[in-house]
Amino acid sequence: MLNFDYYNPTRIVFGRDSIARLQELVPENARVLVLYGGGSAEKNGTLAEVEAALAPRTVMRFGGIEPNPAYETLMQAVQLVRQEGLDFLLAVGGGSVIDGTKFVAAAVEYPREDPWHILETFGAKISSALPLGCVVTLPATGSEMNHFSVVSRKSLQAKLPFASPHVFPRFAILDPVKTFSLPPRQIANGIVDAFVHVIEQYLTYPVNAPLQDRYAEGLLQTLVDIGPRALATPQDYDLRANLMWAATQALNGLIGAGVPQDWATHMLGHEITAMYGLDHAQTLAVVLPPLLDLRREGKREKLLQYAERVWGIREGSDTARIDQAIARTREFFASLGMKSRLGDYQISAEAVPRLLAQLEAHGMDKLGERQDMDLELSRRVLEACL
Ligand code: NZQ
Ligand code: ZN
Repeated sequence: MLNFDYYNPTRIVFGRDSIARLQELVPENARVLVLYGGGSAEKNGTLAEVEAALAPRTVMRFGGIEPNPAYETLMQAVQLVRQEGLDFLLAVGGGSVIDGTKFVAAAVEYPREDPWHILETFGAKISSALPLGCVVTLPATGSEMNHFSVVSRKSLQAKLPFASPHVFPRFAILDPVKTFSLPPRQIANGIVDAFVHVIEQYLTYPVNAPLQDRYAEGLLQTLVDIGPRALATPQDYDLRANLMWAATQALNGLIGAGVPQDWATHMLGHEITAMYGLDHAQTLAVVLPPLLDLRREGKREKLLQYAERVWGIREGSDTARIDQAIARTREFFASLGMKSRLGDYQISAEAVPRLLAQLEAHGMDKLGERQDMDLELSRRVLEACL
């Protein structure tokens, strides 16, 4: 029986030249902090367009938010906001900048002295946050239309998520043209991340939610269809637009409403990024295939459905069809140029106990849609990733 609470206040403004709409989307008297990454937004002209659209408001900049945004960096932005009395945050970038901005928005108003507490409590104690909006330059995480954020703390080698309804972006501007400057590696990352977001919410067990299933399968098929083409023809507006809209919908809560969710691939992946620095999506391409293989009993019905509806696999025994579906998933990642073994990144067996110790330290010992993925099963999955 479906039973859920779905809320999403983010306004989407989509299309070519949509950055000009900031003029009406940001309050007239706002004192704005524009947050961005390592310079791509400056180089491709996005930042200049943003600032022109915000005039004549007071606007300050905070650059240097790194991929897998660091708490240490974000705390400098918190200080700047407080010092300058800024009251509206605008993220210009990919998931890292948007996630980082969400953290800053919550941290500025957080009553505790050290807002790392937000990550220790998964955001449960956030009671207010500064308003924020975003201009998306990388289709991948869906952060622009959700209330999740993932922050890393270098000194602890920790990468942890939090969620709060207070950090939903007020609006998200998605101009596909702004993604034309992305290098192939980041496009591939985006496709794989969006794909795995759908899988985490779909490939669990059936609960009689046919609409969520068909919607998820539609997203997966769209990504399989347009992903390689979006890589091959980087200036094709329509392909980029469809990729961008698919990535947003992969994690805006709709396909996950009322259905069981997994997220174990992500939690193992976060530990790999925190310890070895792989890109987020690279970790997902490594972890997902062996995880599906080793948890095939609990996921049997949905794996067979996935095999048939997404990959058109209808012949053979149950086991053979599941094997094929996992193999096709691996091939899809490879077709995007993604490696799918830890060994491809020069990571060997001694990583396994280190990663398990971090999972344990972060309380990640009951993962998956049935909370039955214990450290022993995580160990087997990680060994199979080598
Ligand atoms: O820093 P700059 O110079 O901007 O370069 C970035 C960065 O190096 C570059 N880039 C972005 N837009 C560009 C561009 N380069 C050229 N042209 C453009 N238009 O791309 C690089 C990667 O950016 P990043 O924001 O790190 O990538 P992504 O969007 O994949 O975000 C990854 C982060 O999001 C988290 C991940 O864990 C990771 O920290 N996630 C957030 C989620 C959420 N909030 O819902 C869910 C996800 O599962 C994920 O965990
Ligand atoms: Zn992800």
